[in-house]
Amino acid sequence: MNPLHDVLQQYYQEQMNMPKETITTHFWRQAFHVEAPMGWLNDPNGALQIDGVYHLYYQYAPHDAAGGIKYWGHMRSDDLVHFKDEGVALYPDQPYDLHGVYSGSAFIENGVIHYFYTGNVKHLGHHDYITSGREQNTIHAISRDNGATIEKQQVVIAAADYPPSMSNHIRDPKVRKINGTYYMVLGARDLADQGQVLVYRSDNLDDWVYHGVFFGPLAHMGYMWECPDFFQLGDQEVLLVSPQGIDAQPHRFQNIYQSGYYLGSVDWETVTFTPDTPFQELDYGFDFYAPQTFTDERGRQILWGWMGLPDAEYENPTVPLGWQHAMTLPRVLEVRSGKLYQQPHENYQVLRDVAVTRELNVTDGTYEYFSGQLQEIIVDIETITELSVQIKGDTNIHFQSEKGLLTLQLNEAGYGRKQRTLQLEQLTGLQLFVDRSSLEVFINQGEYVMTTRMYPDEHEDKVEITGKLTATVTHYSLREAK
Ligand code: FRU
Repeated sequence: MNPLHDVLQQYYQEQMNMPKETITTHFWRQAFHVEAPMGWLNDPNGALQIDGVYHLYYQYAPHDAAGGIKYWGHMRSDDLVHFKDEGVALYPDQPYDLHGVYSGSAFIENGVIHYFYTGNVKHLGHHDYITSGREQNTIHAISRDNGATIEKQQVVIAAADYPPSMSNHIRDPKVRKINGTYYMVLGARDLADQGQVLVYRSDNLDDWVYHGVFFGPLAHMGYMWECPDFFQLGDQEVLLVSPQGIDAQPHRFQNIYQSGYYLGSVDWETVTFTPDTPFQELDYGFDFYAPQTFTDERGRQILWGWMGLPDAEYENPTVPLGWQHAMTLPRVLEVRSGKLYQQPHENYQVLRDVAVTRELNVTDGTYEYFSGQLQEIIVDIETITELSVQIKGDTNIHFQSEKGLLTLQLNEAGYGRKQRTLQLEQLTGLQLFVDRSSLEVFINQGEYVMTTRMYPDEHEDKVEITGKLTATVTHYSLREAK
């Protein structure tokens, strides 16, 4: 053990005892989305299911709601609906991860969980963190007690050993086993400021050899690709990446950074990915980034996204209250007709309370109205000219068939954020999840998703539907996942 370790552990323990009561009772605290008990949360990490139990780790800065040095927080769940806070799983307490236990993933073999994460180290005095002044090591850690405790093992790829054509930005490992060989992908930025995915190989999970570039770089696709993920769905290979530095277009790439997918194939001889589709965004709302998937024990691929973004262009009003950010609902992935569909994992249905179904035949001026802090609303559309859904006073979803545009507008509840739009051929259905301070909209059975935080006044609880359409609307009041 290094001498710093004990000192740091004591410091961390003292900090963790800070009072949290005012946080946990605030009316913007989410009722059925994962949040950290205090401070800052970002990427989902190390998601897995073992012996029936789900574990979700996450980027966590408990002492600073505006960000700071990252730990891994840990939540555990029997059903993906109710989560128990298991505290901090990994502290930045070693020379190789001193300025942050950055993002990583889990890989299960023979009952042992192998975690791979990025150890971030800043060299003080240097301000050029791109080519100097920073290390990002790849580290192996294991758990032999189903995720309850994690022991750090060793640096498996030291920053100094990354390919010379790369900058110091190489991070976020994800591992997979194919025909007896382990493959690790890492997000990277090269010295020419181009994002790409690198791949390493191993026969034993300890010794890793650089294989080459798995995919990229591509023109106009940004300077850095974060959080790569790769898996097979049916007969398609799927590659997820979170690129930074793509220029905004009128109805695409509207956030500061993007998250999206390619469907394609992998040649396991050369270990390279070839896409069949262009890059498609995973979400069109204000708050979605750095998703990670895991394969559940039924073989399904489940995705969590960070319901937030780095460098968001607004001042989040929960920061002065002592916390910031949340996770999306866990989503089940499926490939249909050349697209990746996302559906909320069905277990949330245990939260459904009173149900109301209405046949809507709406012309201008009439509306359906539902109230409740926590709601799920399913709109199955038969014919549509126009639709407007007003949520908790100030958040609005609007669709016009003629333009083929779905608009999400935040107004006052956005604290400076205004509008996101999605262009789509037709709108056949919406499924809305209204939590205390977030909205997730699944569009056309999960063909598209729009996710956002919103900050309504305390007693706003109405959802109103107006427009010109014929549809069946089913409304559920939801219970808290407590
Ligand atoms: C993505 C990211 C990762 C990094 C982590 C640090 O949001 O920047 O690339 O590992 O967050 O918290």
